[in-house]
Order: sequence, then C-alpha cells, then structure tokens
Amino acid sequence: MVNKPIIIALDFPTATSAEQFLTQLDPGDCRVKIGKELFTAAGPEFVRRVVGLGFDVFLDLKFHDIPNTVAGAVRVAAELGVWMLNVHASGGVAMMTEARIALDSGAGPRPLLIAVTVLTSLTASDLQQMGIPSDPAEQVSRLAALTAQCGLDGVVCSAAETPMLRQQFSGEFALVTPGIRRPEDASGDQKRVVGPTDAMAMGSTYLVVGRPITQADSPAEALAQFNSAVASVS
Ligand code: C5P
Repeated sequence: MVNKPIIIALDFPTATSAEQFLTQLDPGDCRVKIGKELFTAAGPEFVRRVVGLGFDVFLDLKFHDIPNTVAGAVRVAAELGVWMLNVHASGGVAMMTEARIALDSGAGPRPLLIAVTVLTSLTASDLQQMGIPSDPAEQVSRLAALTAQCGLDGVVCSAAETPMLRQQFSGEFALVTPGIRRPEDASGDQKRVVGPTDAMAMGSTYLVVGRPITQADSPAEALAQFNSAVASVS
C-alpha cells in the first residue's frame, strides 16, 4: 500500500474556510485535493500556501484543450509544487503525451499525472447522445489503456471500475477513487458508495474523501478512522 492513501477533497468556497479546516490536520496523515471551486476562488497563491504548509496537493482541474494549451497549463501547475494533477483522457493521445512531456522537462520533482476517463455522472445514454456507442465500462477501459500508453501514472475511477482496471493494469498504475463512505456516513449526492477497506481491497491506490471528513465534528478523528480502515488491508 502507498504511504498516506487518503486524499481529502477541500471542497470549500473560500481560502479562509479551507485554511481554517487545514489547521486541524497533520500533513503527515493525509494528502489534499484542490478542485475547480476552491481554485477559482483562491487561485494559485493559495495552492502555494497549502504546499508550503507541507501538504501533498492533488490539483484537480481536469485540463482538456488543444495539446499546446494543456502542456502549458500542466507546466505552470507543476511549478506550484503540486504532487499530482490531472487531464481528461478524452483530450486524446497527443494532448496527454504533450502534457507528460511538459512535466518531464520541469525543474523540480515531476508531479504524478493522471487522467479522468468517463465522468461517473455520465450514463450509457449520455454517451450515446455524444456519439459514443460503447457502454461506460468499455469506454473507461479504452481510455485508461490510452492513458497508460501515453505514459501517465493512473486514472480517476469509481470503485466499481477498479476490479476491471486492476485486471488490465499492474499495481504501478494508480487508481484514484472517490465516492468513499463508512457505514455511518451520509452518501449525499454520491450514487454508489464503497467503504474504505473494500475500496482498497478492490484495487484502489488512493481514496478521495470529502464530506465524511470535512463536515465531521472532529476531522482529525474521522481521518484517523479512515486511515485505520485502509491500514487493515495488506
Ligand atoms: O464529499 P465527497 O466525499 O462526496 O467528495 C468527493 C470528491 O471527489 C469531490 O471533490 C468530487 O468532486 C470528487 N469526485 C467525485 N466523483 C468523481 C470524480 C470526482 O466525487 N467521479
């Protein structure tokens, strides 16, 4: 198992609320994810501050554009000192390859680069409307194969997809899985949730956990419970 497999989703609307939350956590116990909401509100300076506090930051901006533009975005994101960042695999082979090359030429340690395959909010009929005749699992598998072929480090996927992807890829290929809940947690808007122990046993590398920790009375205690649940998987 990797060190610190829990990534806490910092889904806060302001830098102040996110920073107040971070004071309750030890960077030795978890990593954090900054997504579109917080990044749009707080910007790159905030990312630098969180990196400066000692947290490994997953910058979840899901870049998707022409190869040159994505390569540029990925290059400057790496300069912020983030630990991991992502692109949409549906941007294609040239876009993913250019992004990977841009990271290889950076000065500091290379951040992990992963891809989103098919958004878990999309159904088979959504894909059909977009002219993609495959079912979501088939499309996930195809885009994950392209992701690996372009030299990226893994994909974001639902726990339901991890057994299939673990048959396709070795443990080196990171599977980053949201939708994680303990039995006592509210599922919220997540349709299919999986427990932390099961998710790791099914092949996830990192678990993205938001509200069960961010909304907890004691975030540190909730995190400790998630950490012990994942530690029980050999
Ligand atoms: O609060 P919760 O644990 O549901 O947060 C999950 C996090 O993972 C959120 O930041 C959400 O945007 C993200 N995510 C997800 N499902 C995906 C991709 C990302 O829930 N398919």
